[in-house]
Amino acid sequence: MIIGAVTTVQSALQVLFSREQIRHRVAEMGREIDRDYAGEKIVLVGVLKGAAIFLADLARSISVDNTFDFVAVSSYGKGKNSSGAVKLIKDLDQPIEGKNVILVEDILDTGLTLHFLRNLLEQHQPKTVRIATLLDKPSRRLEKIEADYVGFTIPNHFVIGYGMDFAERYRNLPDICLMPEDAGAPAGH
Ligand code: PRP
Repeated sequence: MIIGAVTTVQSALQVLFSREQIRHRVAEMGREIDRDYAGEKIVLVGVLKGAAIFLADLARSISVDNTFDFVAVSSYGKGKNSSGAVKLIKDLDQPIEGKNVILVEDILDTGLTLHFLRNLLEQHQPKTVRIATLLDKPSRRLEKIEADYVGFTIPNHFVIGYGMDFAERYRNLPDICLMPEDAGAPAGH
């Protein structure tokens, strides 16, 4: 019954990137990372929760020796009155000193989250820190930060699926879909 319900929701949504497009692009990103880190080891650091599904697929597209870790930050609200302050609520489990780290995100929006996390990780003296994001919304940027690996660059759409939520729902949709405007979605994700 659950599968039927998901199908019904998804069939009413406009697909921005299909599961096939995502699979193809994530495979390309994996090959880019393999080329850049040939002979090296990497630590993939996913930012919970949105990046979990992308990290799972990206990791399986990568052949170089890799391990996973996860961090979580408090949601800073993103409303008009938000302070924009980001707080770490789950730290790394393993030390990253001297290691090649790739921060893995589902979406780079204002840049507040990744700006905070990159600065934080750099304090642990890793060998390198790079950023892989599936989606990039450069028009929303408030911090000067760019990803090294970008799946798709998009305008300011509110997107759901493939890890991304609206009020914690829809993360399990296999495609990336547009949140209907009449559903009350805010401007950014
Ligand atoms: C989303 C996304 C990034 C962040 C990007 O997380 O996963 O972590 O927003 O936005 P920014 O560039 O404006 O900082 P969200 O707060 O929605 O939490 P989630 O990952 O648990 O869905």
